[in-house]
Amino acid sequence: MAGGARSFPGRGMRDKLVVGNWKMNGGLKQNDALLASLRSDWDAPAGRRLAVCVPFPYLWQAQAALSGSTIAWGAQNVSERAAGAFTGEVSAAMIAEFGCRYAIVGHSERRTLYGETDAVVAAKAAAVIAGGLTPIVCVGETLPERDAGATESVVMQQLEAVIGALGAGVSAIVVAYEPVWAIGTGRTATPQQAQDVHRLLHSRLAEAGAADVLVLYGGSVKADNAKALFACADIDGGLIGGASLKADEFLAIARA
Ligand code: 13P
Repeated sequence: MAGGARSFPGRGMRDKLVVGNWKMNGGLKQNDALLASLRSDWDAPAGRRLAVCVPFPYLWQAQAALSGSTIAWGAQNVSERAAGAFTGEVSAAMIAEFGCRYAIVGHSERRTLYGETDAVVAAKAAAVIAGGLTPIVCVGETLPERDAGATESVVMQQLEAVIGALGAGVSAIVVAYEPVWAIGTGRTATPQQAQDVHRLLHSRLAEAGAADVLVLYGGSVKADNAKALFACADIDGGLIGGASLKADEFLAIARA
């Protein structure tokens, strides 16, 4: 399906947003080189937006390197709590002080490896909004869930928890559809597989009064498959893991 005007009432042309998720990668020296390349080489074509989500200790470095540029930055997680005796946690207010625009919440690695439930993810999304930032809420099914025909029910349940917690505030989020079987595996959802889920997510968001929320696709997006994915009517950009660690590849995706 071609890009352009969307099929849902109230949804017009949207910018494409491409966000890098560095995950637990980086180091001061390599970050300097990567951030400098992004800053110097990103020509910010009309209708394209770019951001990087970095590990907490590097937020100051992203801020120093990207302030005054067209590239935004953010965190990969945040506490659902505001402040207090929560050893090891980082609040939305703290990351806001480093100029973040975004915080990823509910990435499948956090759901699977750190036991984050739908309720926790929804509370984190609410905390991010309360901190004045935009949560990038990840949803996605595992391979057994897809094989069992449960993709729709899984992603809808994950989205429903966030809609339930945020109410009208849901219009302040970005959603990322990341099929777990496509993350870091080199196995990308076909544009049609992704489009089908994006359409479903958009229709529920429109029903909740959030027709303009962007829905990004994530999972083994590379420069050579980004164009076909981003051409789909309901795919509003990408959340990029491995390929966001190389400036050339990441920028090629963002231009695709
Ligand atoms: P990859 O692009 O490395 O598959 O990771 C996707 C992802 O998890 C982004 O959040």
